[in-house]
Amino acid sequence: MTAPPQTTLDPVGPQAARILALDRTYLAIMVAVFVLVTAALAHALFRHRAAGSASDRFSPIGQGPHRAIIAATALTTLILLVLLAASVATGKALNWGSAADTMVISVRGHMWWWQIEYLDPIPSKHVQDSNELHVPTGRPIKLELSSSDVIHSLWIPNVHGKTDLIPGHINTTVIQIDKPGEYRAQCAEFCGVEHAKMALVVIAHPPNEFDAWLNKARQIPPPPSEPVTQRGQQVFLRASCPLCHTIAGTGAQANVGPSLTSIGARKTLGAGTMGNSPGALAGWIVDPHGIKPGVNMPSNVLPGDDLNALVAYLGSLK
Ligand code: CUA
Repeated sequence: MTAPPQTTLDPVGPQAARILALDRTYLAIMVAVFVLVTAALAHALFRHRAAGSASDRFSPIGQGPHRAIIAATALTTLILLVLLAASVATGKALNWGSAADTMVISVRGHMWWWQIEYLDPIPSKHVQDSNELHVPTGRPIKLELSSSDVIHSLWIPNVHGKTDLIPGHINTTVIQIDKPGEYRAQCAEFCGVEHAKMALVVIAHPPNEFDAWLNKARQIPPPPSEPVTQRGQQVFLRASCPLCHTIAGTGAQANVGPSLTSIGARKTLGAGTMGNSPGALAGWIVDPHGIKPGVNMPSNVLPGDDLNALVAYLGSLK
């Protein structure tokens, strides 16, 4: 996979930037406290040795060490209040309302892949995709998060903090990405044996490029035109594939596994498990458990020619 590493230290939108600013504030204050406490400890140790007497251990309240204790308690309380205020201010800043024209994308967690739906008031404009989240840059996007099985958590470290995907409940979060590019997201809540292989590629396009992508994604792919891809489609429809997968424009309309309508254009296979290539796809179809043990896709032993045709057909779906 070519996406840059996930990091919270390189924010590409206002939410991650706010979280990083809070992190820096906490770090600076904590470092200052650590230095002060260490200096006070060293001072006390050396002073005690130098003085060697008990004369100042019993000074009256309001003098000597008592004054220092009162001052330190007051300072500690003040620091905690400053940290609390910074935390509350960041929480408020992250809690964006969404305007009426905010784009809404549904993200549904499955063991172990992501179902993505670009919602539109006109049903024919709905787009269904998997394991890749495309967004336009420079505008807030509302994500409606849900789960079909257990609790997952969406974490795009360069973009925002984590939000859980909970069965029977819709959580929302608003993200904005200002820098075009490819970012990696990861499920951040242990959700079973393949939790680690539940990644999501997030692709931020400049607005006009995004509109072109969305318009293309709304088109139903044309029927296969070459003999090999035509044969591949027959193999797909006759095998057990349509019981779990969707390919727009065909009889395959199930949502047990990821939609394959644009599988040929996807960067990765198996929810970020490996790069997408004909060889990887063939290996995945034949032995998904060898690559992602525990995955819900069954192994498919096919004659070589059928497998090649199926891979050619799926690769043509862009
Ligand atoms: Cu889904 Cu961890």
